[in-house]
Amino acid sequence: MKKVLKYLKPYTWMIIICVIFTFGQAMLDMYLPDLMSDIVNNGIVGQSLDEVYRYGRYMLYATVGFMVCAICATFLASKVATGFARKLRDAIYSKVNKFSLTEFNKLSTSSLITRTTNDVVQVQQLTFMSMRMMLMAPLMCIGGIIMAFSKAKELSWLFVVVIPLLLVAIILLARKIIPLFTKLQECLDKINQVVREKLSGVRVIRAFATQKHEAKRYDDANKNIYDVSLKAAYRMAILMPIVMFIINFSTVVILWSGSHLIDAGTMQIGDMMAFMEYAIQVLFSILGVTMIFIMIPRAMVSVRRINEVLETESTIVDNGKEVGIPNPGEIEFKNATFQYVDGDLPVLSNMNFKIHKGETVAILGPTGCGKTTLLNLMMRFFDITEGEVKVGGVNVKDMSLEQLRSMIGYVPQKAVLFSGTIESNIKYGKQDATEEEVIEAAKISQSYDFIDSLDEKFNAPVAQGGTNFSGGQKQRLSIARAIVKKPQIYMFDDSFSALDYETDKRLREALDLNMKEATVVIVAQRVSTVLNADKILFIDNGEIIAQGTHQELYESCPEYRDVVLSQITEEEAISNGKKRD
Ligand SMILES: Nc1ncnc2c1ncn2[C@@H]1O[C@H](COP(=O)(O)OP(=O)(O)OP(=O)(O)O)[C@@H](O)[C@H]1O
Ligand SMILES: [Mg+2]
Repeated sequence: MKKVLKYLKPYTWMIIICVIFTFGQAMLDMYLPDLMSDIVNNGIVGQSLDEVYRYGRYMLYATVGFMVCAICATFLASKVATGFARKLRDAIYSKVNKFSLTEFNKLSTSSLITRTTNDVVQVQQLTFMSMRMMLMAPLMCIGGIIMAFSKAKELSWLFVVVIPLLLVAIILLARKIIPLFTKLQECLDKINQVVREKLSGVRVIRAFATQKHEAKRYDDANKNIYDVSLKAAYRMAILMPIVMFIINFSTVVILWSGSHLIDAGTMQIGDMMAFMEYAIQVLFSILGVTMIFIMIPRAMVSVRRINEVLETESTIVDNGKEVGIPNPGEIEFKNATFQYVDGDLPVLSNMNFKIHKGETVAILGPTGCGKTTLLNLMMRFFDITEGEVKVGGVNVKDMSLEQLRSMIGYVPQKAVLFSGTIESNIKYGKQDATEEEVIEAAKISQSYDFIDSLDEKFNAPVAQGGTNFSGGQKQRLSIARAIVKKPQIYMFDDSFSALDYETDKRLREALDLNMKEATVVIVAQRVSTVLNADKILFIDNGEIIAQGTHQELYESCPEYRDVVLSQITEEEAISNGKKRD
């Protein structure tokens, strides 16, 4: 709660001014029935037109004042509520930006989105309502009772009967409504999750013809929302008529007993009318307070969810320090062991290897053996559990994340493109890249030809997630994005898998030609991709089984030889090894 309220602090002054205007509004609102009673008593009953004009004028001033106060207070409340919401969204966003992948896994992307949008809106609405009603309603309630008492204390017994009656009715109903609102928020979360999954997995759903199953999941979630909202709406629907009944009933009682008192000459007609207005104000303000109390639990669920994000500390601590890099382009793992937070066993254990500047190193191993994890550790997406990872000769924990990642050009296993154009996607690697640099990157990554065949060339639009490009085109564009950055270290995570052999070969030749200085780490499944590497790290079950050149491993490591021979012939394997020398 504290974490969330912190973002309201900059608005303290606005809140104070809003309170002053609200106070003015409440006072003037309560002054109006008083003036009306004077107009009736002195002007109409007393038959004095001057008095009618005089009090009429006062009423006009009071109404204008009331209007100004109400507008200013509402304006300020809106400004505070929307500003607060904006600051909260900023805070969540910048917090999420610092999250390591561990936190993303823990809180889940879809929930983080709901928290940034829907939950913030709930808090915004509560802030606005609270600022308008939290002070106004009690003021109107207490002030109204005092004023009513001063006008016609003979009738004030009515409050003793009606207020408890109203409170009992409201509390009974609120107790039934509040849990429903909490449940509604959970239902919203559920439907959000189903819709997100359904939309992002639409191709798989269609391919497996599971639309019916998915439609049922959606229907269930939708029906839940329907049931809960309807129940809440029914109960809210009962609330209003009950309150209106009590208010109207009170009016009748006031008129009935008031007329007796007027008849007996103990009360003036204007006072009775004023009393009636005050009574209505008091009863409505009680309803207003109740509304806030109904909203609070709903918004509290949201506050708790936002708080959870703000309180989550990233497991990766960025020290933000720029340090000198003694050995640019070098990567070293020393006795490094890594285990996922929710994993039972280490994914990688006791890794020891060194990659020198300018070397091309291939990481080869069966699926699930920890290759992507190894790259993630080099980029410090996760921190290792034991041992040390050094990049450029510096422990990755001793430099800022920005400095570390600025040295690396990373091509993920699953190509990710952003909505925009081809150019904007390539320039993602280097915002200020020149046209020549973009074209060069496209040529090296073998994307130039297909880009050139498009009508709009480099300005061709890229849909969200790059869905308007083929898998191989997406891979090549994400390679271009890394190339344009001209980093010291390239990391290709199985980035050539969607390319045909010919393109794969051409691409690697172009890379060899243009990256003589850079260190290149290639994760690969295809043996042909790794044959010419300076070093191959052969991994299985999270351990390095062997490391060396193709020829060394081919001769000394039977497991490696088995993998090689399962993909290429013995002659190819031997001749390729020789070609290197
Ligand atoms: N976020 C995670 N949380 C827990 N376990 C994970 C996580 N990511 C990966 N793993 C586990 O770690 C192991 C290694 O995964 P990794 O993605 O590094 O494999 P890989 O060698 O890249 O496989 P592939 O060749 O299929 O890409 C797998 O057993 C996987 O189940
Ligand atoms: Mg992988």
